[in-house]
Amino acid sequence: MPDFASSQYRIVENAKLDARNTFGVAARAPMLVEVAHTDALPELFGYAMLREGPVLVLGGGSNVLLAGDPQGVVLALTAQSIALVEDDGDTAIVRADAGVEWHALVLWTLGHGLAGLENLALIPGTVGAAPIQNIGAYGVEVRDSIHAVHAFDRTTRTMTSLTPAQCAFAYRDSVFKHDPDRYVVTAVEFRLSRATRVRIDYAGVGDELAAMGIDTPRASQVAEAVCRIRRRKLPDPAVIGNAGSFFKNPIVPYAQAEALVAAHAHAPVFRGADDDTRKLSAAWLIDQCGWKGFREGDAGVAPSHALVLVNHGRATGAELLSLARRIAASVHERFGVAIEPEPRIVGGSW
Ligand code: FAD
Ligand code: EPU
Repeated sequence: MPDFASSQYRIVENAKLDARNTFGVAARAPMLVEVAHTDALPELFGYAMLREGPVLVLGGGSNVLLAGDPQGVVLALTAQSIALVEDDGDTAIVRADAGVEWHALVLWTLGHGLAGLENLALIPGTVGAAPIQNIGAYGVEVRDSIHAVHAFDRTTRTMTSLTPAQCAFAYRDSVFKHDPDRYVVTAVEFRLSRATRVRIDYAGVGDELAAMGIDTPRASQVAEAVCRIRRRKLPDPAVIGNAGSFFKNPIVPYAQAEALVAAHAHAPVFRGADDDTRKLSAAWLIDQCGWKGFREGDAGVAPSHALVLVNHGRATGAELLSLARRIAASVHERFGVAIEPEPRIVGGSW
C-alpha cells in the first residue's frame, strides 16, 4: 500500500527492495518514490529530503549491489512509452521513456524494421540505465545509437538534454557515473537505421548464426543469435541472483598486456580504446585464480562464468562485497592487475 499517491507519483515508506535488485539481496529504503510522470520531478526535488539528501535512482536493479540499506530516497521512474519522433524511411529517431524495459525496446525497434540495437538484445534493466554505463555486448555499445539523453538536472532543478559528446561515453563509463548525484535520466532518443548492415564479427555470433542455418542475417536474426548465446552463458537472475559481469574488463598499458601474454600464452587480450592500451579478460584472470564455481554460504561465483557473482539464496550484500574483494585481491596478487566492480555499490564502498 502506498503511503501517499497522486496521479503523478506514489510514495512508500520503509520499502522492501528485495525484488528490486537482481542479486535478490534483502534491503529496505526509508522512502521509495515511484514517478509515473516526469513533469513531477521539479516539484518533488523541491522537497528538502530529495533536494538535499541522497537519492538513488533505481531501474531494474540489475547493476547494483545493495551492500547495505540505501540512505535517503530511492526514486523509480515508471513511464513506459516508446515513440517514433522522426522517420525518413532510411533512418529514424526513436524516443523511449526511462521506465521501459530495455529488451522490450530492442524488440519494438526490430518490429519496426529498425536496426542498431540487435546486438544488445536481452540485456536486463531499463532504458534509463542504458546510458549510465554505456551498456555493451557482442561488439556494440549503446553510444553507437544514442541521439540524445533527456534528464532532470538536480543542480539546476530543470529538465535538460545531453548530446552524445556531453555524455562522455567510454567502455562501461559515462558522465553519469562520474557525477552520479546530478542527473535523473527521464528518456533516451536513439538514431536507428532501416539498412541491414549487421555486426556479426564478435566471437561466437557468426558461428551461432551458422548453426541456425542463416548466412545473410537480418537484424532480428542477429538478436535471436545473441539471445541464444546469452541464455547459454549467463545465469538467469530469475533462477539465481546475479548482476551479470561483476567486474569490468581491465584496461592496461600495451606493455603490461604483452608481459601477460609472454607469461601466459593463452591469456585473452583485446584492443583497448587506443593503440597504447589493451583490454584484458577479467573472467580469464579470475578463472585462473580458481574461483569459478566457488561457494561460501550463499555467496558464490557462477560455475558457468567466472565473472558472475551469484546469490544462491540468502547471501547478504555485504557477503557478496566481501567475496568480490577477496577475488580482486587474489587477481592482483597473482597477476598485478587491479580489477574493479561494474555494478554500483550502494550502502558500502569498494
Ligand atoms: P539499475 O541496476 O537499477 O541501476 C544501475 C545504475 O544506473 C545505478 O547507478 C542507478 O542509480 C543508475 N540509474 C538507473 N536508472 C537511472 C535513471 N533513470 N537516471 C539516472 N541514473 C539511473 N550490462 C552490459 O552493459 N552488457 C551486458 O551484456 C549485460 N549483461 C547482463 C546480464 C545479466 C544477467 C545481468 C543481471 C546484468 C547485465 N548487465 C549488462 C548489467 C545491467 O543489465 C545493465 O547495466 C543495465 O543497464 C542496468 O539497468 P537497470 O535498470 O537494472 O539499472
Ligand atoms: N573466460 C574465461 N572463463 C570464464 C568465462 C570466460 O576464461 O569463465 C574467457 C573466455 O576465454 C573469453 C573471455 O573470457 O575469451 C571473454 O568472455 P566473454 O566473451 O563471455 O565476455 P566477457 O568479457 O566475460 C563481456 C561483457 C558482458 C557482455 C559480453 C559479450 C564486461 C565486463 N562484460 O563479458 O557484459 O555481455 O562481453 O559482449 O565487459 C555485463 O556487463 O554485465 C555483461 C554481462
